[in-house]
Amino acid sequence: MEIVILPDGAAVGAAAADRIAAVVRRNPQAVLGLATGSSPLGAYGALAALVARGEVDLSHASGFALDEYVGVPPESAHSYAATIARDATGPLGMDPARVQTPDGTAPDPEAACVDYERRIREAGGIDVQLLGIGTNGHIGFNEPTSSFASRTRIKTLAPRTRQDNARFFGGDLDAVPLHCITQGLGTILDARQLLLVAQGESKATAVAAAVEGPLSAMVPASALQLHRSAVVLLDEAAASKLTLADYYRFTYDHKPTWQRG
Ligand code: F6R
Repeated sequence: MEIVILPDGAAVGAAAADRIAAVVRRNPQAVLGLATGSSPLGAYGALAALVARGEVDLSHASGFALDEYVGVPPESAHSYAATIARDATGPLGMDPARVQTPDGTAPDPEAACVDYERRIREAGGIDVQLLGIGTNGHIGFNEPTSSFASRTRIKTLAPRTRQDNARFFGGDLDAVPLHCITQGLGTILDARQLLLVAQGESKATAVAAAVEGPLSAMVPASALQLHRSAVVLLDEAAASKLTLADYYRFTYDHKPTWQRG
């Protein structure tokens, strides 16, 4: 795992954008794993700026969202389908026909999960998966005690996640759905590269547990320790509880030229 500590959220976003752009320049038809929420917004903004300057073209890339609320139709501004369209697909100049989210209103949600796995597989798998981390250590909506082998499935959102996400529903906790469809930890681990971004003090405990704690289903993001190409981009506040922060800084400052993208 590569851990990079950067001065602020803007630098985290810029670094994530650079890494995603590098993947797309190598393969214009790359398959991107897209996250929602606050964490990836800086990355999307910086990537959109690269697109606007003609430094990368995402119009032939595909995208798969990590998750979707059950029972929220794609037309709703609260759906992750609408969120991804607003925050990612549009600003990044991606082709909407190539960007997919799980179907949270499918009459048979379990079949929709199986179908989502099939669609990812048929697209050739995800080249780079952008991730945020929940304050309880979740990635996607894989809440604590999720299996490291899990695939796309229906989960019940943890009370803490519903509280954290109430801000997207005007602060109304009761409006936050109870269930979601999320890529599993096994699905996420199949991506060829993982890129986790975290900003702010509220993420520091979860980040330290994921990066330096034991592998544990109680900290779903600790699954990153099993991946051969996982990069964690943090601002100072999100890195503030890491025991080996100085070592990560030293490692990054002395990264051999041949390893720098
Ligand atoms: C979003 C997702 C979640 C969020 C996490 C952090 O698609 O799957 O894991 O990344 O809840 O949310 P923010 O970034 O809003 O703090």
